[in-house]
Amino acid sequence: MSLYSLLRPFAFAIDAETAHRATIAALSLAPRLPLPNFAPALASQVAGLRFPSPVGLAAGFDKDAEVPDAMLGLGFGFVEVGTLTPNPQAGNPKPRLFRLKEDRAVINRMGFNNGGLEAALDRLRKRERRGVLGVNIGANKDSEDRIADYVAGVTRMSPVADYLTVNISSPNTPGLRNLQAGGELVELLQAVRDARTPNGLPGPRSAAGPQPATPPIFLKVAPDLEAGDHDRIVRAAGDNGIDALIVANTTVSRPALRSAQRGETGGLSGRPLKALALEQLRLFRSASGGSLPLIAVGGIENADDAWDRIAAGASLVQLYSAMVYEGPGIARRIADGLAHRLGQSGMSNIVEAVGSR
Ligand SMILES: Cc1cc2nc3c(=O)[nH]c(=O)nc-3n(C[C@H](O)[C@H](O)[C@H](O)COP(=O)(O)O)c2cc1C
Repeated sequence: MSLYSLLRPFAFAIDAETAHRATIAALSLAPRLPLPNFAPALASQVAGLRFPSPVGLAAGFDKDAEVPDAMLGLGFGFVEVGTLTPNPQAGNPKPRLFRLKEDRAVINRMGFNNGGLEAALDRLRKRERRGVLGVNIGANKDSEDRIADYVAGVTRMSPVADYLTVNISSPNTPGLRNLQAGGELVELLQAVRDARTPNGLPGPRSAAGPQPATPPIFLKVAPDLEAGDHDRIVRAAGDNGIDALIVANTTVSRPALRSAQRGETGGLSGRPLKALALEQLRLFRSASGGSLPLIAVGGIENADDAWDRIAAGASLVQLYSAMVYEGPGIARRIADGLAHRLGQSGMSNIVEAVGSR
């Protein structure tokens, strides 16, 4: 029995956001763990970065970059902090985070609550660089120039990030996802491309190996897309030097759900998102033909799910909601399960499995 299975009843007895805050507080006090040793066959190079395991922590758990090293130590092959906006903002009124236990799902309408870029930058500057750290950036709700907010995120956070994620897919900032539309997307990606700041030449060295001179930029999309969107987004990303797509954020759709909180407004994640996220990944794989690395997220809760995404074309995977139910040990269990699957299929490295189905 894991420590988390003992603690879970207490965490589930209090409201979800209080439990989350308590978890972050506890993790920030915990002694720093060494980086785990993963099976060498799990290591891969994506967008010029070396990932020791393809299983990462998705954005939204550590919005303010308080505990990235704790999460790396607990077994994530990479950690994405944020979403961070230029100015601090409170987010939506509480309650805004709901566990749908019967569905193994979460609904959230947090609304980019975060302490702002500068506070996170201070924190990240003090840290010793080890492990792969992504910084997810967004726009303030009341911003008059959203594109300028992303440009600020790129220029401010480049020196401390191994990669940056341009998040235009949160359903909880009104109008944000309009940035996925044709003209706006191209304008945004051009501005981001022009803002890419060298983070020091030669790049700083970290446990992840030598870093590229400018952090690669990933684009995170929603799973609620229509026919034609995939080709268009792949083209805009390719034309503007985007290094990978993260597929996908939470969904505003509502597959059949059983839990009492199923009517809450917000983005749905966890098990009910699984089929949609896999379908969207397949559509992006067929639109890109493998030319753009894909990072799969949404409903991944075990090694089989992770394997399915990798076989469907994902170079890396991320998760969040399953950790609410299974605890942080899930990252290591999935990594070990993937290493086992590789051995069974006679492949010597995870890269061989990418798009193998
Ligand atoms: C409480 C919560 C907060 C989130 N906040 C963010 C965020 O700030 N930025 C972001 O890009 N994604 C955010 N996400 C989305 C996750 O990164 C992920 O894309 C989504 O939850 C699907 O993965 P999962 O089913 O493994 O949770 C959040 C998800 C949850 C559950």
